[in-house]
Amino acid sequence: MVKKKTCIFISGQGSNLKNLISHSRGYNFPIKISLVICNNREAIGLNYAKIYGIPYFLINTKLKNYENKVLQTLKKYKITFICLAGYMKIISKILTKNYPKKIINIHPSLLPKFKGLNTFSRILKNKEKETGCTVHYINDKLDSGNKIVQKKFFITSKDDEKVLKIKTQKLEYKAFPEAIIKIFRDN
Ligand code: GRF
Repeated sequence: MVKKKTCIFISGQGSNLKNLISHSRGYNFPIKISLVICNNREAIGLNYAKIYGIPYFLINTKLKNYENKVLQTLKKYKITFICLAGYMKIISKILTKNYPKKIINIHPSLLPKFKGLNTFSRILKNKEKETGCTVHYINDKLDSGNKIVQKKFFITSKDDEKVLKIKTQKLEYKAFPEAIIKIFRDN
């Protein structure tokens, strides 16, 4: 099996990156993580790229046209698939045009509910009965592309923001690899 050369974009903790690295080492997993792109030099997640010897590229999103540089780097590493894993910047048309239906994201809510930031506090404030995570394609509107995999759980009265995050991420570690397998099984 020829694995798709994939880039993971991160900004922080990188626990989804770590999880995807471990899945990608499986013989039958459809992607190889060939590059990590990060917009935060202090991101803990960068350590996973270092430990596993994956090339990484730090970007300065304050620079004009920084996405042109990103695109050049993606081409240099022959990247054909992109996963956004806790990447806190909006992806512009430069990337979506060059990678149509090839960029996916993981979001900590049951989309279309709670797009954007601070999902857990809004979920609690809204007294939701259930929540979860969604893996979806990226398009030109925030958190609005087609869903690939969604997983949910019931919220209990004891769940605060911290617990919701832990429970959601536990599901994310299943949903993200599952979505990737689904994409390449169907295509
Ligand atoms: C995840 O919860 C994801 O849903 C959101 O950002 C978080 C990233 O976590 N988009 P990590 O950096 O993978 O630990």
